[in-house]
Amino acid sequence: MLMLVRSIPANASYEFAADVRAGLARPGQKELPSKYLYDDVGSALFEVICHLPEYGLTRADERLLRRHASDIVDRVGGPVAVAELGSGSGRKTRWLLEAFARRQRISYYPIEISQSALVMCEKELRDIDSISILGFEREYLDGLLEVAAYRKQGQRLLVLFLGSTIGNFDRPAGLDFLSEVRCLLQPGDCLLLGTDLEKTSAQLLAAYDDELGVTAAFNLNLLGRVNRELGANFDLTQFEHVARINPSERSVEMHLRSKRRQTVRIPAAEVIAEFQAGETIWTESSHKYSAEEIVDTALRCGFRCDMQWIDHEWLFAENLLVAE
Ligand code: AVI
Repeated sequence: MLMLVRSIPANASYEFAADVRAGLARPGQKELPSKYLYDDVGSALFEVICHLPEYGLTRADERLLRRHASDIVDRVGGPVAVAELGSGSGRKTRWLLEAFARRQRISYYPIEISQSALVMCEKELRDIDSISILGFEREYLDGLLEVAAYRKQGQRLLVLFLGSTIGNFDRPAGLDFLSEVRCLLQPGDCLLLGTDLEKTSAQLLAAYDDELGVTAAFNLNLLGRVNRELGANFDLTQFEHVARINPSERSVEMHLRSKRRQTVRIPAAEVIAEFQAGETIWTESSHKYSAEEIVDTALRCGFRCDMQWIDHEWLFAENLLVAE
């Protein structure tokens, strides 16, 4: 059974309403934060995206972890507890946890805002020998702060931040986030950071606007969520998914484009939003990196890059960073 520490605050829907209001009532580019893509429907759709032929990111991440699990575990050393920021289904973490469990008893602390993802993750991993799992239904840094308090004397912490979720922060926010993670760690603790590397525009546009329309459904579900949770009247047939390259940010963006001029009411956010035909809501950016940039970013945030493993089939890097 999943041992779970729950505390998504009672005011979560208030925060959602406030963010929707701030993002849609402003002049200029309308915006909704990408973290709201992941309700139960969105998390399930994201799982499907990870299996799409056009979206090689998750398979590359998993390939690297499968191939290099023993090397990673040897470099981290022990005894160690493993915390994961945004565990998702836990499928790709299995390779690492199995490699650890062959050497020592292992405590695993997945940290997730989605309870359904935590439940899925525990189901996926509970058969591993010598593992204890304690899930935290928390925002990443709140969860990590608590996990750090659980560590035993002399135990090192390995934090996993896989799947290039760091890419969904803009570059300055990514630096701030990694610096905050560093503040919660002790020298010698490790961060295994998965980062998607730069690739061609054609490859990115196919990955973020797949033929089957799963990414479109994932994106449109955000408007569905605003309807379900905030009583809005978005007509989902009157918006369309768009993927766009932003060359100066070295990112691919997702937008929802209004097909016509329309007015949408969002009672719980106290907003009446006016859309022009062709106007978009910016819902996500996915930044892409160079391998050298990660080494430099690590240094700026108080880490040393101990090792990088690169997948050449789908350019992706697994970076082992050690807290200095
Ligand atoms: C979770 N994150 C790293 C994914 C990405 O590639 O930016 C989310 C995603 N959005 C569209 N497809 C996948």
